[in-house]
Amino acid sequence: MDLTLSLAQKATATVGADDWHTIELPQVRRLTLCDGPVGVRCEDPTSPSPDDFNKHDSYPATCLPCGAAVGASWNPDAVREAAAGIAAEAKALGVDVLLGPAMNHKRTPLGGRNFEYISEDPVLTGTLAAAYVEGVQSRGVAACVKHFCLNNTEYNRLTIDIDVDEDVLRDVYLKGFEIAVKSAAPLCLMGAYVRVDGKYCCENERLLSRILRDEWGYAGTVISDWRAIHDRVAALRAGCDLEMPFMSERSAESVVQAVQSGELDARTLDRAIDRLRALGDATAGSGEAPDPAQAYLAARALAEESAVLLKNDGILPLRGKVAVIGGRAKSPKYQGGGSARMNARQVTSLYDELSKRLSITYAEGFTAGEADERLLAEAERVAKAADVAVVCLSSPPSDDAEDRDRPSMRLEAGAYALVERLAAIGTPIVLVLQSGAPIEIPCRDKVAAILETFLAGSGGGEATARILTGEVNPSGKLAETYPERYEDCPAAAFYGTDPDRMRYGEGFLTGYRYYRTKRVQTAYPFGFGLSYTSFRYDSLSVETDGDEIVCSVRVTNTGDRSGKETVQLYAHLRDGVERELIGYRKAYIPAGKTVAVEIRVPCERLTVWKDGATRANNGYEIIAAPHSEADGVKASFHKICK
Ligand code: GLC
Repeated sequence: MDLTLSLAQKATATVGADDWHTIELPQVRRLTLCDGPVGVRCEDPTSPSPDDFNKHDSYPATCLPCGAAVGASWNPDAVREAAAGIAAEAKALGVDVLLGPAMNHKRTPLGGRNFEYISEDPVLTGTLAAAYVEGVQSRGVAACVKHFCLNNTEYNRLTIDIDVDEDVLRDVYLKGFEIAVKSAAPLCLMGAYVRVDGKYCCENERLLSRILRDEWGYAGTVISDWRAIHDRVAALRAGCDLEMPFMSERSAESVVQAVQSGELDARTLDRAIDRLRALGDATAGSGEAPDPAQAYLAARALAEESAVLLKNDGILPLRGKVAVIGGRAKSPKYQGGGSARMNARQVTSLYDELSKRLSITYAEGFTAGEADERLLAEAERVAKAADVAVVCLSSPPSDDAEDRDRPSMRLEAGAYALVERLAAIGTPIVLVLQSGAPIEIPCRDKVAAILETFLAGSGGGEATARILTGEVNPSGKLAETYPERYEDCPAAAFYGTDPDRMRYGEGFLTGYRYYRTKRVQTAYPFGFGLSYTSFRYDSLSVETDGDEIVCSVRVTNTGDRSGKETVQLYAHLRDGVERELIGYRKAYIPAGKTVAVEIRVPCERLTVWKDGATRANNGYEIIAAPHSEADGVKASFHKICK
């Protein structure tokens, strides 16, 4: 028992003091917690509300590309570097806990927060989230992985009860968190709003204590999502150390009464205090001075690593007379909405950055909302006079936001009419997309090139210009399948059928696991992305080395430009699922050269959860491929890791 603090003080320490702080106690530092995953949103209490979600605006800071772009980068080093940049800015603003990364599994393309989340695969999500955590914590700020767990859509998110099979929960929905917790030791983890087996996540002892702490050895602090706790005593008992934000005096009072009555073991409260004290100690002191210029460059680099070239008939890199069409070229959709939204410093636009590099013409094409004949005619005229038309489009302004799922996969109104009209002219079209989640791409077969840049943050405009002009060779690959239509999504049949309960009936057949196993045609598969060069996969060899397998993939750059290729490793791990990602590596391969790309995979990635324990097969076929639907090169091995 900690004798220096009274029971009332301890109870008060485990609930927020206001929206963003805890209280100051002897030996327990007052903590400042701030959103969000793409950059620090430290509220300026004197500023007005910027949107329909946040009370105040925040101090200017660097804005990273969104989580979907983080996923498409397949580049832990770029993610780590970018996260360190925004963490230094957070530290300078006195922030102790940065509420990110957001890393829930992407189960349906209509998920309102898919823009914020990383991927439809737990290995890709967990490894990139781990890199983000390492970057943030390298600057003396606590990262907070969220939302643990099963906050996969926004549909009735505050109360919905998720019904998912145990092995699917373990190997799909928890696996990303498990990888991040075990490899990067985040100092904080945020419990989700939803219920699992009828119990709110923040009050769910099986999740927060038995799995997270007892099985995975998590030693950090668990905080609630904002207003996610319904019973403070139950939450403390389950393992949720801090309730955010301040709700009422009754929260702390209920804890005092529970300890006094014996309903709550005083040691549970002491453990929570010890973790909060440790969190305060781990984030004390001043960090390195922030370097906004460096943070911007790291954000731009991440945007360059993330952009996915979905189609290119040779029109890119740009040359000749270039027409730029679409308002999003001048005012990009560079971030999503909700708690992740922040006051971005130095947002670059494609129009400005292309203007520095080329002589271009411009037409708006359409205003936000409906197509306008005058604007369409102007766009036609400008396109007709050019050798190529770069058409910049985004998802609707109201999409890609917390607290609401998307109504469809369509782009902003007016986009389809514009592309139809321009496709009829004959000038080659380059579509530049700014979306946080899969979209129905207009006239895919009628345009010459498609570059998905996501919600690309402060450096997005410059990154896109550098790619379009060939200064940078694109290397991003999709971290979420782009289905032909929403109805093809395996979760569609189980979404929104019951306001109180959502059955994850698709089981393991989520995302590419489904499309590949069932041979369902997709618009663009998980792991897909083109380059300005081309690569050939020659061979794969597999060895075991202790508790890892070591895969060596010989890849040849068959083009005349150097570039980066993300080699993906898949294996058949369980009946009914043809292949699952077990590892990957993004490698630089010089023009004309062959490189042996080495990928080390922990043996535990080859196990599956079945009947209450992890199990290994007695042999595996490993596939090394450029994306989830490619045949790739194969190798089998029967020696099992130690
Ligand atoms: C929100 C979000 C969470 C955010 C928190 C604080 O409702 O779910 O991601 O960090 O509350 O704004």
